[in-house]
Amino acid sequence: MLFSKLSDLTKKHVSGNKSGQNKGYTYVDAAIGSRRAVRAFANTPVSAAVVKEILNLASRAPSGSNMQPWKVYVVTGKAKNDLSKAIINNKAKQALEKSRIWKYYPDVLPPLYKARQRKIGWDLYGLAGIKKGDHEASKQFRNNNFKFFGAPIGMIFTISNELEVGSWIDYGCFLQNIMIAARGRGLHTCPQAIFAEAPLPIREILMISEEETIVCGMALGYIDNDAAVNRLETERSSVNEFAKFIK
Ligand SMILES: Cc1cc2nc3c(=O)[nH]c(=O)nc-3n(C[C@H](O)[C@H](O)[C@H](O)COP(=O)(O)O)c2cc1C
Repeated sequence: MLFSKLSDLTKKHVSGNKSGQNKGYTYVDAAIGSRRAVRAFANTPVSAAVVKEILNLASRAPSGSNMQPWKVYVVTGKAKNDLSKAIINNKAKQALEKSRIWKYYPDVLPPLYKARQRKIGWDLYGLAGIKKGDHEASKQFRNNNFKFFGAPIGMIFTISNELEVGSWIDYGCFLQNIMIAARGRGLHTCPQAIFAEAPLPIREILMISEEETIVCGMALGYIDNDAAVNRLETERSSVNEFAKFIK
């Protein structure tokens, strides 16, 4: 069911609470708590209607002045394969400068963040069976990223070049909403900034204008529970480490 108006959603929420049969937070906590980056998907299809429903719900995300800066390209089937192939076979690296690319990480990461980055990297490579220095295996893993890790649905997100960092905050809210809404439907996701590194083939295949910046991609589908990479359990620092309560 597609919710077209906020009032429809509100009604559903209120009636859910009134029935007394379920506690809304249990479902919300389960959806947030069970979200993780999944890097191997089953080839079970996901219908366009479900993707639409998720995007529709996700668009309830807040945004400064309600600007809703998101734009989504959903790829499946042949279009998805063509996109992956074009990126993996892309030779036009020298032309990259012409296209706007954003920078995820600083050139030098402070030690705390470097340590966290290394941990996830090695944990993931360990599960994937990739040994240090095995460039071929690393390349395969990277290419798998560009294949949306085998998910039936791939999404590419763009934002207008004319918008500022505030709209990128809004974008994060939107992306998280997609990932949570997916969990509510038994689906998993992997947000993929790696796609921002390949703007040229993406622009070409999806006919994206130079006025838009590629924010990231996302894989969406059902988890492959047999895949070792999906056994990754990431850690978080405790609330006491990142929050200060001041009276
Ligand atoms: C904006 C964004 C971009 C990301 N890009 C990638 C990516 O390109 N490839 C990938 O495998 N994981 C990517 N990740 C997933 C992170 O590595 C992952 O969220 C993090 O290690 C924490 O693990 P968890 O999501 O399983 O809790 C990205 C996450 C975010 C939020």
